[in-house]
Amino acid sequence: MSTVVTKPRPTTADDITAEVLRRVDATKDPRTREIMLSLIKHLHAFIKEVRLVEPEWWKAIEFLTRTGQLCDDRRQEFILLSDTLGASMLVDLISNGKPPGATESTVFGPFHRDNAPEREYGDNIATADRHGVPTLVSGRVLNLKGEPIPGAALDVWQAAADGLYDAQDTSLNEMNMRGKFRTNEKGEYLVRTTRPVAYQIPSDGPVGELLKATNRHPWRPAHVHFAVSAPGYQPVTTHVFDSIDQYLDEDAVFGVKNSLITTFTEHKTKDEAAKKFGVEPPFCTAEYDFVLAPAGK
Ligand code: BEZ
Ligand code: FE
Repeated sequence: MSTVVTKPRPTTADDITAEVLRRVDATKDPRTREIMLSLIKHLHAFIKEVRLVEPEWWKAIEFLTRTGQLCDDRRQEFILLSDTLGASMLVDLISNGKPPGATESTVFGPFHRDNAPEREYGDNIATADRHGVPTLVSGRVLNLKGEPIPGAALDVWQAAADGLYDAQDTSLNEMNMRGKFRTNEKGEYLVRTTRPVAYQIPSDGPVGELLKATNRHPWRPAHVHFAVSAPGYQPVTTHVFDSIDQYLDEDAVFGVKNSLITTFTEHKTKDEAAKKFGVEPPFCTAEYDFVLAPAGK
């Protein structure tokens, strides 16, 4: 029996790419069209460049399936994957570029929780952490002219001294190391916490396997997360990093920026700071001023 030839069909690798692009070209929404056409171009080019074979393709499908299966309200393996591939920092850079002088943003991460408790100036967020070094993080929220912004909101979250976020600690049924603060009439905030420690991002899942396979470690340098906002200003989601941390140059998720590094000073005696804050040594202090850019700039 002879083959019935009606019209040419895509047969080569480039034919297949061209045919997929031709069909996706019909996408109505212009931005979706732009994104999908580019995605197909780059995905196909990648497959052709590495000459991806079926066992590798199956492995990738299985990897992505397990990544999805490890996502719920306590664990977000897809965000972790994006973070460890540097994709989150690229999207952050493109989305949240700030004018000179404003506080820079960094990676959001998977451990923010929406309903952190409201806290008063100077409240302790370490409600269940009995091991960390008591630490006072203070500063002001300012505009680009250096003027204080009273009533600015600071959503703060941090890993405990054992390197775990509350969502990872199954022994906890409370919100620990989190709180929503506001600046006072002078634009000042004061957070009592414990000294942040370097910690390992979750590496018992597919992302951990990928880190191991690519000879990478899972450590993040010590930091405190802040999401700072005020009416009329662009919000910023960022971290404050400890200047002596050994992982500043090799953060597993590429989140460190020089402008976000500050000194955590150790106090071993009953000095002026101990009197000012009413704390017993040993403790730490750190200062950081956040600068917000006006909305729409
Ligand atoms: C974090 O800092 O909480 C974080 C960021 C990215 C991945 C994992 C954790
Ligand atoms: Fe963190």
